[in-house]
This record gives sequence, structure tokens and C-alpha cells, in this order.
Amino acid sequence: MLHGKTILLGVTGGIAAFKAASLCSKLVQQGAEVHVIMTESAARFITPLTMQTLSRHHVHLDTFDEKDPAVVTHINLADRADLVLLAPATANTLAKLAHGLADDMLSTTLLAATAPIIAAPAMNVHMYEHPATVANMELLGRRGVRFIDPGTGQLACGYVAKGRLAEPEEIVEAVGRFFASQTLLQGKRVVVTAGGTMERFDPVRYLTNDSSGKMGFAIAEAARDMGASVTLIAARTSAPAPGGMELVRVESGEQMLDEALSRYEGADIVVKAAAVADYRPIVRHETKLKKTGDTLVMELEKTTDILAELGRRKKGQFLVGFAAETDRVDEHAMGKLQRKNSDLIVANDVTMEGAGFNVDTNSVRIFDRNGLVEALPVLSKRETAERLMRLIADRLPRRTGTEASL
Ligand code: CTP
Repeated sequence: MLHGKTILLGVTGGIAAFKAASLCSKLVQQGAEVHVIMTESAARFITPLTMQTLSRHHVHLDTFDEKDPAVVTHINLADRADLVLLAPATANTLAKLAHGLADDMLSTTLLAATAPIIAAPAMNVHMYEHPATVANMELLGRRGVRFIDPGTGQLACGYVAKGRLAEPEEIVEAVGRFFASQTLLQGKRVVVTAGGTMERFDPVRYLTNDSSGKMGFAIAEAARDMGASVTLIAARTSAPAPGGMELVRVESGEQMLDEALSRYEGADIVVKAAAVADYRPIVRHETKLKKTGDTLVMELEKTTDILAELGRRKKGQFLVGFAAETDRVDEHAMGKLQRKNSDLIVANDVTMEGAGFNVDTNSVRIFDRNGLVEALPVLSKRETAERLMRLIADRLPRRTGTEASL
């Protein structure tokens, strides 16, 4: 499963370090070439000799212990890795990675590594839930670091709570899934819209909505990480935009429509996660509107429904819309799917806790022409996005074989 893959395994200092031995052994059994870097604290819990024997490579602890004069070890290890796996990842190592500290062999190598990173945290529950750790993990998540959640159970410190390192089998499975997903959308062109549109009525004022752009950004990131070439058309957003893709900034629905249409022909998949204004002010004043009477009446006109327009012009593109609802979710979602000729509709009840605008989680129900396809529980927007993109990848016509001609 992992044949031909080079994995840099960073082992940091927690009691769960002992599980790194079994993890290393399983990765090697799956065919991976594993190079181990341990922190000094990790070496207090488990010996480098154990990791060396299991990985069949010299284990690195000290930045200045340069054994091969032909290379600079931390750069060489960073460059060769297809994946960096931190297991167990302590709060301290996550903090160092989040803030760019490089004061030992592992943190220095991490700063030099451009390969994707998967971290499996393990620590006391209060350390895991500390605002600093939470903020560091959020920051790392935005930069593309993936996390394998710790399990809940008896912790070494005596608590029964969340913080146990995921089991080695689970970590190996996640690594396998990661490599398999890297090529799921290779060669595909994906257009994602995100954020809330802004409809101006004077130079400093506009109508908008609560969308943060987080769901659209997570979808764009997931598509990028599955090998797609991604264009992200983003209106007003409060979250930082991801890298590694073409980013097109727009304000109004009209601009979003133009940008989407100009890329539509070349697109394989279009995901319309943006919250587009349904109406815009008819008059856009050139100068700032002055306060006059006690009331102000503003006339609005309907905007073009971008998704419906794309649905009308569809020529083989896979079209995905969203439906943010407050009632009769399924019924409204199916209605939108049919009206807008989309292939999937991702619906959520925005009144539900942990779903909808401006939060980091979502809970969606995905529909196709025949009805409900999947009802996802409350998940991070990133996890929701990955599940959605997998579902889309599964439904694309295969490049070869009989399915394409059916
Ligand atoms: N949408 C769009 N252009 C619009 C309005 C909506 O492309 N002018 C897209 C959204 O990006 C989303 C889907 O249509 O993918 C559903 O949006 P939503 O606002 O939930 O639906 P509406 O059709 O506007 O219906 P309503 O507001 O009445 O629920």
C-alpha cells in the first residue's frame, strides 16, 4: 500500500511515544521507507535503537550530528519526504510548528519540509483543550496540516478523557487514505465559489450576508489536495484564503457570474458554495447617500441566479449547489436541485448548532436527482469538504473502461 513512499516520522515526547514503535513497524511492513526523527524528550520514553531497528535507518536526534558529509541532514530528510507524520505530536511540537520555531532536529526539519504533514496529537485533555493548543491547531489546519484526532479513554495522567494517541492501525489507515486521495482529482479543473456577495448602493455601503467563506475555502483546499487544478472565486470573506490555487476576488453577484462563466467551458466540476444575494439595489449612487427623511425606501431588483444559469448551459460539467435552509430542508433542497439543474445539492439547516454560517463545523445532507445520498454528522468544514469531494470524484465518468461509454 505504501510502496515507494518515503515517510518522515517525527516522534515527540509523550508517554504515547511507545506506540510509535508499532506504528513505524506497520509503515515499513506496508512498504514505506521510514526515516525517524525523535525529540530528546521522546528518547526518554523509547530508545532510538528501537526505532532504528524497526525503521532500518539511522535515527536522528541532534541537528549537528552530521553523519554524511555529502548532505545537510535536515534539508535532505525534508526534501526526500513524501509525507511528514508526527506521532505522537505533543502540544509543544505543534506550538513550535505553528510559530516557526526551529530549536532542535525535528522542528528545524519541519521548517524545511514542503511535504504534506499529518499530525496525530496525544496529550492530557486540558492541554488539548487549552486555547493556545486549539489556536495552534487551527492555524496549522489552515496551512494544510491534517490531524488524526486523539481518542477518548484512560489517559496516562489518570483522566478518562480525550487525548489518547490514535491506534497505530488507525494512523496507518489514514496515511494510506491520504496517499490514495492525492490523485483522486488529478487532471480535473475545479471551480469553487465562496463567501457572501456585496451589492453596493453607494461608494461606502452595500448589502451582504453572514457567509464567512469557510465552507467554500475548505472545498477548494480539499480539491487542491486531491490533485485538481482549482480556481477559487471569492466574494466577501472573513477567513484567510488558502494558497496553491488561482484566487479571483469579486464583490458582486454580477462579477461572480462573469468570472464563473468565463471558466465554465474548461471546468470539470463547479461547486457553488457562495451565498449570492438574490436582490440588489436598482440604483447605485455615485456619491455617499445623505441622510434626509425619517425613512428610506430602497428598490431592489432580482440578481441572476448563477447556479441556475450554469445549470442551463451545462455540457458535461458536474454541478454542485448549496442550500442554506431554516425549515423543510429536504423539500427545499430537492426543489433547488431540480430548478437549477445541478447534479448534487448540499443542504444544511442553518438553525442547527454547529452548522451554517461563520462556524468551523457543518452538518450537511447531500442530495442527487433520486433523493438523499448521504447525511453527514457534525464535522469540521474541512472533513465535510473532503467527504463531499470524494463523493463527487466517485461520480465523475471514468477515463477508461466500460463505464465511460455506458
Ligand atoms: N445561487 C446562485 N445565484 C443566486 C442565488 C443563489 O448561484 N443569485 C446559488 C447558491 O450559490 C447556492 C444555491 O444557488 O449554491 C442555493 O442558494 P440559496 O440562496 O439557498 O437559494 P435561492 O435559490 O436563492 O432560494 P431562496 O433564497 O429562496 O431559498
